[in-house]
Amino acid sequence: MSIYQSISRRRAIKIGLTGLLSMSATTASEAISLNEEREAFDNKSKRKFNVVGQDSLKKRAAAKGLIYGAATERGKFVSNPEFADLFVKNCAMLVPENELKWDALRPTPHIFDYTKADWLAKFARTHKMLFRGTPLVWNLALPKWFKEVVNRQNAEKFLVEHITAVTKHYAGEMHSWDVVNEAIEPAFGRSDGLYYSPWLDFLGPDYIELAFRVAANADPRAMLVYNDAHLEYDTPKHEAKRKALLKYLERWKSKGVPIHAFGIQSHLRGHQNGLFNAKKFRKFLADVASLGLKIMITELDVKDSLLPVNIKVRDRIVASAFEDYLSLVLDEKAVIAVITWGLSDRYTWFSTYAPRSDGKPVRPLPFDSNLKPKLAWNAFARAFDKAPKR
Ligand code: XIL
Repeated sequence: MSIYQSISRRRAIKIGLTGLLSMSATTASEAISLNEEREAFDNKSKRKFNVVGQDSLKKRAAAKGLIYGAATERGKFVSNPEFADLFVKNCAMLVPENELKWDALRPTPHIFDYTKADWLAKFARTHKMLFRGTPLVWNLALPKWFKEVVNRQNAEKFLVEHITAVTKHYAGEMHSWDVVNEAIEPAFGRSDGLYYSPWLDFLGPDYIELAFRVAANADPRAMLVYNDAHLEYDTPKHEAKRKALLKYLERWKSKGVPIHAFGIQSHLRGHQNGLFNAKKFRKFLADVASLGLKIMITELDVKDSLLPVNIKVRDRIVASAFEDYLSLVLDEKAVIAVITWGLSDRYTWFSTYAPRSDGKPVRPLPFDSNLKPKLAWNAFARAFDKAPKR
């Protein structure tokens, strides 16, 4: 029995759909039907998601001085020319989803293999898209040899060498780099709020500043970004993270660390729409902007693994999540770009990392698996159309 079938009508009305989605089952005597539940949601949500005109997302974004782009992998373009075509038509920016990570670039401690990333850089150039890199420093996606080879004594040499080589390789053609990814997480339990990383273990907290300084020296033209996740919701965990982030951004700015933008990943959770507190998140964005930093939404998608199976209902919740989020975020003029983590449901990391327990395909992106626009696409188009001009 689903949680929809096992909850009283009174409680359902009181806590709303998003509340329902995060609750566990109650008794059978409180049951209401799934259809009633859907109806209640459809009636509540009067949104029509109407869109004027046929313009692509990149065109609508550009009309407001915004960049719309997406991440994907080279293999997807090679195996599916239709997808490549869709990408070119809709995106003004291309982000290699994995090709610039350490484990992709560094097959051995002494070899840099740029083949796949260069292929994507060329694709971006050929199709006049901006090219963006992620990440230079992260605790994940490290090569197998890393553990055996890198230690306290040589860690600084590896870090500096990697950042210098890779940023120099793309100097002049990289719009922006995520210099450091996911380095802060107060919930991890350290008193300084930093998150686990071998770099932290080997070099101490200053590895972050070092990374930015090295990147700025090697490629003075790229926009240098600190990128992180788990910031959007009105929960104690996200609240603590927003606070810690602001503290670090402020500190880095006051110390002259060459950081230009803050990247917010925003892997949103469809079942937690109700936890999105527009006022608090808007204030957070304003606080970041007041430090003189630009903001990029770097990995946007909506997790639908805990949403109802019905596609109409599910797509409506996903689209609502996108629209609520984007209409608020784009109100902040420091936000310069929105990048989705994938473009079509055919290729999304959630298929592996957040699959549905019923085995149905996930639907977290603007285009469906047949490359057709979904209601989520309308949400993007509407938010770009409504956004103030930069
Ligand atoms: C993910 C990719 O999408 C997957 O294909 C890969 O297997 C693991 O990494 N935060 C990030 C991204 O900063 O680099 C991650 O990308 C998703 C979470």
